[in-house]
Amino acid sequence: MKIKKVTLTNFRNYASESVDFCDGFNLVSGPNGQGKTNLAEAICFASLAKSPRTHHDEELVRDGSNEASVSIEIEKDFGKQTVSYSLGENKQFFVNGNKISKLSELFGTLVTVYFSPNEMSIVSGSPEDRRDFMDTDISELSGNYYNLVQRYNKVLFQRNKLLKNTYDHKAILDQIDIWDEQLASVAAPIIRTRKNFIAKLLSPSQNAMHFLSKETEKLDIEYLGAEGNSTAEIKANILSGLKASLNKDMELGYTTIGPHRDDIKILLNGKDSKIYASQGQKRSIVLAIKVGELELFEKELGEKPVFVLDDVFSELDTGRQKKLYECAKDYQVIMTGTTFKFKPQTEFKQIKVKNGTAK
Ligand SMILES: Nc1ncnc2c1ncn2[C@@H]1O[C@H](COP(=O)(O)OP(=O)(O)OP(=O)(O)O)[C@@H](O)[C@H]1O
Ligand SMILES: [Mg+2]
Repeated sequence: MKIKKVTLTNFRNYASESVDFCDGFNLVSGPNGQGKTNLAEAICFASLAKSPRTHHDEELVRDGSNEASVSIEIEKDFGKQTVSYSLGENKQFFVNGNKISKLSELFGTLVTVYFSPNEMSIVSGSPEDRRDFMDTDISELSGNYYNLVQRYNKVLFQRNKLLKNTYDHKAILDQIDIWDEQLASVAAPIIRTRKNFIAKLLSPSQNAMHFLSKETEKLDIEYLGAEGNSTAEIKANILSGLKASLNKDMELGYTTIGPHRDDIKILLNGKDSKIYASQGQKRSIVLAIKVGELELFEKELGEKPVFVLDDVFSELDTGRQKKLYECAKDYQVIMTGTTFKFKPQTEFKQIKVKNGTAK
């Protein structure tokens, strides 16, 4: 899919602007603080229903305005679509002008793979950052997965409420089995889907790592959570895990095992990259994962996603910049940077951003 046009109204520092994109490389440049990241953010918001840099949607509304709105025209293999949203008093999304009632209906309309320096948290951040990475990206592929995670969080909340508010252990023991059964029933397909996602992501990411970095650098990703391959096996392991940790959970007042506590381990040459990889290697790992996602998303959706790269070149040497161009050349790319030292060999467009305008 390709983004043809983005129209922003009162979004961050954009009062009213329309930006046309080419199908190849879109090089969005300009000095610091002019609105490059804001433009990338507006695009990502349409695909993920959340900002990659803040949980506070009100920050996206232009100072002094009540409402921000963004409209994005997309061209897919089968035809044109429009995704739009408004933020402020109401947060609403529209696909082809029709208001959508559940976010799961939005996912898959505009699919992006997003990189910004913040995405380094996939390697360097907390387990929560890595769970968020998996959940966000799998939701883009499956609205059903997003619904499962919402359902899991609700059941988890109920189980924790029982653990927290009931001082009578017998009362907990009387009710806990019902919650354990429900929790495990939703946890198992979540973990199964995440393991599947990691397994499918691994090979294209390894290939990209091989290409982007020294050929000796081997990437591995392991899911750290309940054992098992089938949903039934995982469910049985979750159930026994919940039983085994019940005393601890009662003491702490919350649930200590399950997909909300799982993590992934990213290894470089067999060693935990969070601890051992250099800054440059970490950056290459995250980029390799993103390039791996391009291929995975394309395979799963039957359409190419749009590659959005915010400030990607700030720390990459020219050799790696060229290699990244090479990896991305079959996709529509929207990349931001203060300047671009060399121009792509394929179709490209320069977009200059200055104080909330993009020309
Ligand atoms: N809600 C808002 N209303 C008005 N202006 C805003 C709002 N939120 C952010 N800004 C402004 O947007 C500008 C930052 O834009 P952005 O982050 O896109 O910069 P950038 O071009 O990516 O810069 P850099 O090269 O430093 O990354 C700042 O001047 C900031 O004050
Ligand atoms: Mg920026």
